[in-house]
Amino acid sequence: MKKLVAANWKMNGEGSWSTKPAALASLLGDNMPENVQVLFCPPAVYLDRIATEAGKFGMNAGAQNCHASASGAFTGEISAQMAADCGADYVICGHSERRALFGETDAVVRAKADAVIAAGLSAIICVGETLAYRESGEAEATVEMQLKGSIPTTSTALNTVIAYEPVWAIGTGKTATLDDIEQMHGHIRKVYGQLLGDKSAGKLRIQYGGSVKPANAKEILSAKGVDGALVGGASLKMEDFAKIILAG
Ligand code: 13P
Repeated sequence: MKKLVAANWKMNGEGSWSTKPAALASLLGDNMPENVQVLFCPPAVYLDRIATEAGKFGMNAGAQNCHASASGAFTGEISAQMAADCGADYVICGHSERRALFGETDAVVRAKADAVIAAGLSAIICVGETLAYRESGEAEATVEMQLKGSIPTTSTALNTVIAYEPVWAIGTGKTATLDDIEQMHGHIRKVYGQLLGDKSAGKLRIQYGGSVKPANAKEILSAKGVDGALVGGASLKMEDFAKIILAG
């Protein structure tokens, strides 16, 4: 099971960034770790060209979001199948920014993940507690509720990745302690096992996200139960992203 180190560019980038996979490949050179799978999730309008470029170097591409429906009158949206047509292998579902800024509920996230899986892609389902829930000791309960509401019955360890991203760690420079990360990843695996069986849970990849940087990547990616990282800010500069991949 390779670690999945993913770049979530959010709403950043421009057409000229299609050279980034090549730039990353040249930074990695012969040192690309065998046990790491690299994924670029650019804004949807760049997905096609990033997927083409990433594919040249054995890297994958994914969308940051999609609509749950296959087609229809949903101005401005894209379907999972459209992402697949552009070369995506993954779609991020229920990122905390989508949940907080675009009102995505667990039910919406589940419907999107279901659509992603139906299109033959893998869903990266994001969960994570706010600071208020962390401080009130309800982090695990919050994440458990999100998992139970967001994971579709069609999920398997092959078509699903869970990304644990504590909301308070995103873009803040704060990271959860290793103990907290390991404990939460263990909890996520346990809950996934309750939902879809322990055998599946054993193979499930669980990424950590939230201020992953070159300086902390090694310890985070080596932590128990951490099968990759979902990287925001530090994935915009290939020098930084390469260092994170090399830590994998
Ligand atoms: P940062 O790495 O910028 O904290 O963002 C994390 C994130 O939201 C990735 O999806």
